[in-house]
Amino acid sequence: MTHQKGLETLDREVEVDSLPTEGEIPDWLGGSLLRTGPAQFEVGDASYNHWFDGHAMLHAFQFQRGDVGYTNRFLESNSRQKARREGTIVQGEFGTDPCKSIFKRAMQLFSFSEPTDNANVNITRLADEFVAMTETPLPITFDEEILETLGRFEYNDDLDGDLTTAHPLYDAERDTTYNYVTQFGRTSSYVVYRQASDSHERVPVATIDVETPRYMHSFGMTRNYIVLVEFPVVVRPLEMLLSGDPLAEIMSWEPERGARFRVVDKRTGEVTGTGTTEAFFAFHHVNAWEDEARGELVVDLSAYPDATIVEDLYLDELRTDEPDALAGQLRRYRLQPDGSELRGRQVSEQTLELPRINYGARAGRPYRYVWGNGQRDGAAFLDEIAKIDTEDGSSTTWHEPDCYPGEPVFVERPGAGAEDDGLLLSVVLDGRREQSFVLVLDAATLDEVGRATVPHHIPFGFHGQYVSD
Ligand SMILES: [Fe+2]
Repeated sequence: MTHQKGLETLDREVEVDSLPTEGEIPDWLGGSLLRTGPAQFEVGDASYNHWFDGHAMLHAFQFQRGDVGYTNRFLESNSRQKARREGTIVQGEFGTDPCKSIFKRAMQLFSFSEPTDNANVNITRLADEFVAMTETPLPITFDEEILETLGRFEYNDDLDGDLTTAHPLYDAERDTTYNYVTQFGRTSSYVVYRQASDSHERVPVATIDVETPRYMHSFGMTRNYIVLVEFPVVVRPLEMLLSGDPLAEIMSWEPERGARFRVVDKRTGEVTGTGTTEAFFAFHHVNAWEDEARGELVVDLSAYPDATIVEDLYLDELRTDEPDALAGQLRRYRLQPDGSELRGRQVSEQTLELPRINYGARAGRPYRYVWGNGQRDGAAFLDEIAKIDTEDGSSTTWHEPDCYPGEPVFVERPGAGAEDDGLLLSVVLDGRREQSFVLVLDAATLDEVGRATVPHHIPFGFHGQYVSD
């Protein structure tokens, strides 16, 4: 296998005006693909354990009249700066506990109040600032052109939270972003909040008290409802505090609890219902919408039968040639807003992870197409780009030998009529050449339109956004 290069440190930062390109990248594509992901997996003699732990690096691909520029820079988070000062890993991450001695463990207790800000998961815009995010509520602002780190995004409110998602959802009708935080305590709470697009203030919409908070990486949102799907991955905050163990190690899979869907009405903040179904796990919701004819909510996710994926993403596991299942399958759940009549079905045989849709036109609405990464039989890593038609479950794929594509980001063609009329942008590792390229595909057919090659490998990342000029 040749995927291992994608799990090696990249410490080179470059600015290239024009990358070597092949094919014809359309003139109308004018904007930047901004991405974040882990890029440094060792500090001094210490190594991070989990794919989610490496120091965040930002990457920008600038598309202009068929040319592609490229810039990459580390995000100067506190987590990274502390590590650089001390010459070792200081800050605990998702799957790394730097504290081996009792003394250091005591120190870690103090640092519980200062969680990681290593924002290597996703990028969004808050109050007209570009921010990188991780799963603690500590987004970091950066300059989208030169990728300079500008500092912590300052919220103008007093909402506390220990965990959040790096997948806020934008409601275009309300020009408002929704997300939630988990507050750990004797009784823990999820606080669903909204944030107007010109505001630094998070306004609570609903507070849900829970005995056993769950690990949720994303959530679903329709025009009028938010759906939190509580997988039975239980987090015991007291255990984390006392043991100093990282989040990944204290999460426990308790399938007897099932998966609980909680529905919140965005208009009133009322929890309109909960429904429980057979246990499963997902990192990523795909989309959710209201089926008006049936009065039902439709919630699509990339689902796994259990949470072993969290362990399969430890770097030691990923660096082997032993294939683990690193992609789930598209599943569709339906339920009434009061939580009743909850049932799910698999939509397609196609494997799917890092799913994307045409958000601009279809987020929270009926939609047909999902794009994402798949894993072919026997592959040790995600090795294809897939398009799934949710109407009949059929799929189309792109694959090239020894190539490992990342999340395919959809960009709509100006004046597009059809939902899939546009391009897909995906950062691909060519494992044989140990170099990455940005691939441009026709989103409808997955035929290649062009590619531009980067002067180094880009470690496998998670998410990014395209920003039109
Ligand atoms: Fe994610």
